[in-house]
Amino acid sequence: MTNSSKTAPQLAVDQSQGNAGLEGVIAAETRLSHVDGMAGRLILRGYDLDAIADWRFEALLALLWQDLAPENLNAAQIQTALGKARQHAFGLLDPLLGMTDRLSQVEALRLLLSALADAQTEAHHVLAVAAVPVFAAAIARRRQGLVPLQPDASLGQAADYLRMLHGKPMPEAMAKALNTYMVTVADHGMNASTFTARVIASTKAGLFSAVIGGLCALKGPLHGGAPGPVLDMLDAIGEAQCIRPWLTDALARGERLMGFGHRIYRVRDPRADVLKAAVANLRDGSGRIRFAETVEAEALALLSEKKPLRPLQTNVEYYTALVLEAVGFPRESFTNVFAAGRMAGWTAHVLEQDRTGRLIRPQSRYIGPAPMASHAAAS
Ligand code: ACO
Repeated sequence: MTNSSKTAPQLAVDQSQGNAGLEGVIAAETRLSHVDGMAGRLILRGYDLDAIADWRFEALLALLWQDLAPENLNAAQIQTALGKARQHAFGLLDPLLGMTDRLSQVEALRLLLSALADAQTEAHHVLAVAAVPVFAAAIARRRQGLVPLQPDASLGQAADYLRMLHGKPMPEAMAKALNTYMVTVADHGMNASTFTARVIASTKAGLFSAVIGGLCALKGPLHGGAPGPVLDMLDAIGEAQCIRPWLTDALARGERLMGFGHRIYRVRDPRADVLKAAVANLRDGSGRIRFAETVEAEALALLSEKKPLRPLQTNVEYYTALVLEAVGFPRESFTNVFAAGRMAGWTAHVLEQDRTGRLIRPQSRYIGPAPMASHAAAS
């Protein structure tokens, strides 16, 4: 996802028989969020995403952690706790930050999060959420040859993330757009990374181990690794007259168009609309957004023509790419920004799993050879 190659990234997808993707399997009961794929709705603890998309990230954390965390903190208390925890996380950067240079940015985040000891259980969910922007901003700055910037505990999480990235306070409209992004991606039912985190939590391995597992699942291009490639695709298309031929050629080669399709949504992903509005507020009428909208319209038309049996709509990653680009994140950082939002959901799911869950241990269907006598195997 890091380069701006002239061809769309290609994904090898396993099309094996059977329910290898566990479609339709209920893997957990949760009060946290519900994805209604047929209606195109995302419900977070009783609220439609549209109704809460402009909440502060801290208010959403209060909602998600309510009755699951040891204390029911309100949004203001969470902001204070996050500010202190960001400062604590900043103190953990040395010496690990210096060991991250050979890694991608998401791998570097994985390394830094590994410094959090599972034995620390006091407010571990707060520290996990606070640590991501501190580590991710330090990683992104180091790639530019810049030293990390101390957190400002008085700021909200989104505003401080941007400040730590850019080295100075950024306009409120940008912090608001990032805040909307983080709220929008905070939780999303039993997605692959949340499932991973819950499986690890169910073994009682500890919250940090569980959320690091979530990050590892998020990293893949079929989950959280797609927004960078969306921009690669827009760059590769280049100009308006190339849109249709470029997309047609990509589909003819069997490639997937980045930012389209979803396992659950059979209509439009509601997060795409929230983020489209957020980016429009930020850079109203900019050429980049108009171009992206034209590409989107052409892509949807071609997908419905080429894949009439499979409704393929714009997913969250498409407008994520434009929001994150507009607030100044390099595309190599995008998965880490996703993690900064999704950490809210991972921590809440781990807390919920701890309270209500049981060891997750499904079974497999054996399709190997029937047992044979040991002398036959040896000969
Ligand atoms: N472009 C072209 N064709 C597509 C796309 C796409 N983006 N997505 C699915 N298809 C086609 C497949 O080729 C397949 O066609 P076929 O039946 O003719 O072989 C059919 O639609 C079904 O595809 P599946 O792989 O079974 O669908 P699945 O539910 O597993 O895929 C996924 C979901 C992985 C998101 C897929 O749509 C994709 O690869 N999209 C592009 C990458 C992307 O945008 N990822 C971000 C996802 S959002 C998130 O996780 C936060």
